[in-house]
Amino acid sequence: MRFDRILSTYLNAISPPDSTLLFDRIADSLATTGYCIYPQALPGALTDRMYRYMQELEREEFRRAGIGRDQEQQLNRQVRGDQIRWLSAGQPDEAAYLEWMERLRIGINRRLMMGLFDYECHFSRYPQGAFYRRHMDAFKGRTNRVLSTVCYLNPDWKTSSGGELLIYADEQGQEPIERVEPCYGTLVVFLSDRFPHEVLPAQRERLSLTGWYRVNNSLGGIVDPPR
Ligand code: OGA
Ligand code: MN
Repeated sequence: MRFDRILSTYLNAISPPDSTLLFDRIADSLATTGYCIYPQALPGALTDRMYRYMQELEREEFRRAGIGRDQEQQLNRQVRGDQIRWLSAGQPDEAAYLEWMERLRIGINRRLMMGLFDYECHFSRYPQGAFYRRHMDAFKGRTNRVLSTVCYLNPDWKTSSGGELLIYADEQGQEPIERVEPCYGTLVVFLSDRFPHEVLPAQRERLSLTGWYRVNNSLGGIVDPPR
């Protein structure tokens, strides 16, 4: 093993990378505005790893995303044109991302007592021209998704490429309160049932990791609804 690798392994062992400040800032934003947008939130090596991994994934491993509960039936390209692939902890690269999100889950629960119970997450690939019309990720009382996360994996994104995430203050909002360019390493976190949002068409392929923290509303230990 190279010396620098040994050294960094040793340093991580005696002092794990400290996310305290970042988690503080995310929790503060959630408590005040209900959302936050952070460039370079994840460790750079983790972002790079996810980007490389996503490059390797075959296109066939993505399927066109559907809408609503029985996704396969309600396939609707008028609403969203991205292709998705769910992550699972059985694959080491996917597990690395899920582990970081698990640390964030615990960090937020400690600070805000949100009772976040678990996390589900998929890769999204928007082919050139694809979009996702204005929508909510959750509706009060009808879902257990409470916190949405999006992490972008697009090196050298140009404003002229479009593909912004527009966030609106509420259902009535006509002008977005935020326009987020899907730049490499930017993390967006928001309350799932508060903010309508949409993805504008992009002039080039647009990659991201989108996930939801859920609470467990159900009885008998069964998480409902299934995704
Ligand atoms: C979603 C979504 C936003 C984005 O997948 O529900 O709103 O910027 N994604 O990719
Ligand atoms: Mn959404």
